[in-house]
Amino acid sequence: MFVCIFLIETVSMIYLHNKVVHSRINQELESLKSRGNSHRDVLEISYDNSTLHHIGLMESHTDTDVVITNTKGDILLSSEKVNSGMKKILKKDLTQVPRKGLIIQSSWKEERYIATVTPFNSDKVNEGYVYMFKNTGDVEDLISQLNKHFLFATLLLLFFMLITIYFLSKALTRPLITMKEATTKLSKGNFSVSVPVRSKDELGELAQSIQSLANELNYLKKERNEFLASISHELRTPLTYIKGYADIARRKDLDIPERTQYLEIIHEESKRLNSLLDELFNIARMDVNTFTISKETVPLSSFLQSVYEKVLPAFTNKNIQLNLECKDNLFMDIDPSRFEQVLLNLLDNALKYSNEYTVTTIKATESIGSISISIIDQGVGIPRADIPHVFDRLYRVEKSRARATGGFGLGLSIVKQLVEVQGGTISVKSSIEQGTCFTIIFKEKKNEDSSSS
Ligand SMILES: Nc1ncnc2c1ncn2[C@@H]1O[C@H](COP(=O)(O)OP(=O)(O)OP(=O)(O)O)[C@@H](O)[C@H]1O
Ligand SMILES: [Mg+2]
Repeated sequence: MFVCIFLIETVSMIYLHNKVVHSRINQELESLKSRGNSHRDVLEISYDNSTLHHIGLMESHTDTDVVITNTKGDILLSSEKVNSGMKKILKKDLTQVPRKGLIIQSSWKEERYIATVTPFNSDKVNEGYVYMFKNTGDVEDLISQLNKHFLFATLLLLFFMLITIYFLSKALTRPLITMKEATTKLSKGNFSVSVPVRSKDELGELAQSIQSLANELNYLKKERNEFLASISHELRTPLTYIKGYADIARRKDLDIPERTQYLEIIHEESKRLNSLLDELFNIARMDVNTFTISKETVPLSSFLQSVYEKVLPAFTNKNIQLNLECKDNLFMDIDPSRFEQVLLNLLDNALKYSNEYTVTTIKATESIGSISISIIDQGVGIPRADIPHVFDRLYRVEKSRARATGGFGLGLSIVKQLVEVQGGTISVKSSIEQGTCFTIIFKEKKNEDSSSS
């Protein structure tokens, strides 16, 4: 930043300096020329020796000099002794000098004089020339004075610039350094960092993003630890059973029916272990997004009807009445097989957590711009404190209750993930001993052809 500003300042200062010097020299030349012109005017009014003498006298008291020549170049008057520098200029060829005068020497750096020439007439015939001279020493003094001012201004500007840059870079770099330290900590696995958000600009937003990234990572780390703990717990339980019953089954004094019974338990527990691993594998696949969804427009009533028929025997078997309420002409944009998985999971829960002689309803309703599908049961319900957690992995309301029904607490977490990847939302309402209602909401997809037909 300093180098950039320094360069900009230098370039603009040099430009300004050149401009000022140039216009100052021009001013000097113009005033020299107009002085020569006024001498011409006097000479043209009365061209005689006394006028010449008078002009010479006037110029001898100023810092400019005058030399008047005739057309042949003979000097008629000079206010100062004509020296070599003046002679050089006087020798210059003069053709077509305009009446308003001409600058004949402007290079103040190299020459001793800057000079102008003005022709004067008498009775409309050119009588001679008025040369005006100014010593370039005076001009150089003037310029060096100007340079001093410029130098002073540049130094002053540089000083203020340095102060500004110092404070500005402090203000800019301090939050950047804090953020850099925070990200270094994050990369080393320390997620409990705090990045202060000091401003509302881009830096503030960056700090905010780093903070939320840290929070997210922290949460993920905690969740992963809890998940691993729950999994190892889940795996240990059936393994304990298997080991225990295997030990008993190995006893020699056991009769065949007893041994068969223990082997049966071992078989059941292995099956349970197997299905747990299957579900975990499913979840892992969903996490890395390796599974694809292929959406299509599905007529809802026939889709729900097929799901209904699939689960009806299980409900009838448990003496639970299953109802389906769905209007015709409702269409949804979903992946049918994934969505069936969702509904089967929810219906499986309704079946598991409802008692005999209750009613479970599958209900599809349409409201402005959305379609909702609800699974309503009259089962045991979920305690208010557990409702926020039912979608968490391996979460079961009552461990013993779920064990009796054979659940892992994975169903709803899979359901939620499947609904969300298809662009829907899922929510739950429940009151204990009254029943539970899971509602899935999707943005509606109307099929114009079918609805108009
Ligand atoms: N319809 C329901 N009525 C009462 N409780 C429910 C209902 N649905 C879910 N729950 C509670 O929420 C918990 C989580 O449900 P989830 O479907 O995730 O697991 P699960 O049914 O126990 O096991 P899984 O579905 O993995 O076989 C269940 O243990 C149960 O206590
Ligand atoms: Mg379930």
